[in-house]
Amino acid sequence: MADLSVDLGFRTLKNPVITASGTFGYGEEFLPFFDLDILGALVLKGIFLEPRPGNPPPRLHETPAGLLNSIGLAGPGSAALQEIIRRLHARTAVPIIVNVCGENDEEFAEVAAIFSGLEEVAMLELNISCPNVRKGGACPAQDAGHTARLVRQVKDRVRKPLIVKLSPNAADIVAVAQAAQDSGADALSLVNTFLGLAVDLETRRPVFANVYAGLSGPAIKPLALRLVREVCRRAYVPVIGMGGITCGRDALDFILVGASAVQVGTVNFRDPAAAARIVSEIALEMDRLNIKDLAEIRGKLQA
Ligand code: FUM
Repeated sequence: MADLSVDLGFRTLKNPVITASGTFGYGEEFLPFFDLDILGALVLKGIFLEPRPGNPPPRLHETPAGLLNSIGLAGPGSAALQEIIRRLHARTAVPIIVNVCGENDEEFAEVAAIFSGLEEVAMLELNISCPNVRKGGACPAQDAGHTARLVRQVKDRVRKPLIVKLSPNAADIVAVAQAAQDSGADALSLVNTFLGLAVDLETRRPVFANVYAGLSGPAIKPLALRLVREVCRRAYVPVIGMGGITCGRDALDFILVGASAVQVGTVNFRDPAAAARIVSEIALEMDRLNIKDLAEIRGKLQA
């Protein structure tokens, strides 16, 4: 029987499959579909200090093999999320990761501090890479200097492991990754969505009020895999890879280029039990390839 466990250094996960922020609600919605304890961990939808309505509709637009979203990080605010986490934790032992957001650096640090103090929370993921909050897609993860300052400020306020979620829209994602790890990130997760555009020929207007939106799904997998490889080659902290994973083989591809674990996102909308299926498929695929331990293939791409 293959060993799927993953040692992140600061924590061991029973397997590498983590559900991605914004694609798995607040966990509770998925309880009817499978036993969440099957997962390595889950990331909750991003949270700000106060409730946020998010962007006006439409918020989703399908593309061939992909999904554009412009949700605008809608959410119930930190106080309500604490209650949700307590309820969720009472029903599952899966490690809970809070996706921390902020309108500015102070808010990021404040939200991180709140959830760092919650014993039900295993880790924090700093969402510095959402392309849908400011028009044009600007976010801290586009700038290495801003990322360094922000990560240091947040690290000063937290005691939980801090994952920093990076953007594929940065001119140099490797430089941003380096800034994040040098500033104290315990792990990196990448990639968030690629900035894209959909237009309506009839109205001659963009589909989304914000003009641009974030593309995810199978269409981005080869692009994401390249960026994860580039970052892994220079990373000294664990990397969590994501981008278009729909099956166990996809997950193993990310591990082959150096990822320690993976996040599964857009496929959750099509198949709410996809993450559980992917855990089983990884085990089957490892048996088929006679891989006893994920360390045997991690970062072993021969190129
Ligand atoms: O629009 C959104 O809520 C997207 C969030 C993200 O990509 O992090």
